[in-house]
Amino acid sequence: MEKSGGCAGDRARQEGLEGIIAGETAISTLADGLRYRGYAIQELAAQSSFEEVAYLVLHGDLPDAVTLRQFQSRLAAASVDPAVLQVVRDLPATAPLLDRLRTGVSLLSHYDPARAAGGRDASLRKAEQLLAQFPLLLAAARCKKTGPITPTYDPGHGLAENVLRLVGGTAATPRAIPVLNATLIMYADHEFNASTFTARVVASTLSDLYAAVVAALGALQGPLHGGALERIGEALHEAFESGDPDAWVQGLLARKQRVMGFGHRVYKHGDIRAQSLQPLCRELAFETGNERLEQAAEQVEQAMRLRTGLHPNVDWPSARIFRYLGFSAETFTPLFALSRISGWCAHIIEQQSNNRLIQPRASYAGVTARTVPRLEDRP
Ligand code: CMC
Repeated sequence: MEKSGGCAGDRARQEGLEGIIAGETAISTLADGLRYRGYAIQELAAQSSFEEVAYLVLHGDLPDAVTLRQFQSRLAAASVDPAVLQVVRDLPATAPLLDRLRTGVSLLSHYDPARAAGGRDASLRKAEQLLAQFPLLLAAARCKKTGPITPTYDPGHGLAENVLRLVGGTAATPRAIPVLNATLIMYADHEFNASTFTARVVASTLSDLYAAVVAALGALQGPLHGGALERIGEALHEAFESGDPDAWVQGLLARKQRVMGFGHRVYKHGDIRAQSLQPLCRELAFETGNERLEQAAEQVEQAMRLRTGLHPNVDWPSARIFRYLGFSAETFTPLFALSRISGWCAHIIEQQSNNRLIQPRASYAGVTARTVPRLEDRP
């Protein structure tokens, strides 16, 4: 069968849209390390809380003390309709946690009386509300207890403390809160990654913010994106139990399998987020008695560098940080989502404010033109 289509070189360049500039954004850039609204993430992680960064990403600038207090109060006042919590908890026990949350976000839209309201202020209100509702949804969805449950914020504490309490992080170390803040900050935005681009495509059809976030959650779930995070815990455990992390890496590579937490579409010489989190991860490992697992992780890293030249991405230290903080593996990708909601919503609002339908073309690679044979003449 004869095939037609564009030249192979063009297709190779366009595969996965690698290196293609698909639009403009003022939210983050990877051009000079990773910066949110002009600020380097290392500086933000060292000096700010996650709420300050979420505010920055959404609103465009860092809040002053009064604005931050008002933002924190709005977040702490959020609640989720009990009907939504109940549905999320009643989903089949086999449903992965992130899937439950995707359903939950979809349901939230039906319980927002101002869902239809348009314009930047309305979208910002929905974004802030969703940012605050997501941890509550996560707390309810992972709760195995029967009977009604209504998770609420402790307004006396920041989001990281509340997430630790609500989502089941058990680490009681002085470093837990600053490290969790820094890790959440690393995930807040990352330009046109797959889930953010998905959100922008959906927003570009003039669909609403909830629909765009639901779509982004769908894109995040896959193991090449956010789904890698929750798989790292299991992989690292295997590498550790094998007693020979180098041989474990070799085995995976020989079977043409990917080692989750390594490689990146853009960062070919190392992910600045992984580099920033690595020392925090190591310190936390020592504080929480996980030195041996941390050593196994370092051996995996060395083996990957030696055998593939690939560097760790942000998920590699983050998965360990979440584990050392006492979170269960199924919550790792939802914790990524909890933070990235700020970025997704900022991009949706940016798309809405200067919208043009995102609709690229495809290079046709199917059979050449032919006529439809009669049913009885078909082979
Ligand atoms: N383990 C083993 N081999 C790998 C890996 C890996 N983690 N990553 C890339 N390779 C190999 C790949 O097999 C390919 O080899 P070959 O040329 O022989 O076929 C080569 O490196 C290039 O890979 P690619 O898939 O063309 O590279 P990409 O830019 O499309 O992929 C990636 C980027 C993140 C999808 C990939 O590195 C990967 O699958 N990593 C594991 C999953 C992961 O950790 N994802 C989290 C990404 S960062 C956080 C986020 O945004 O979600």
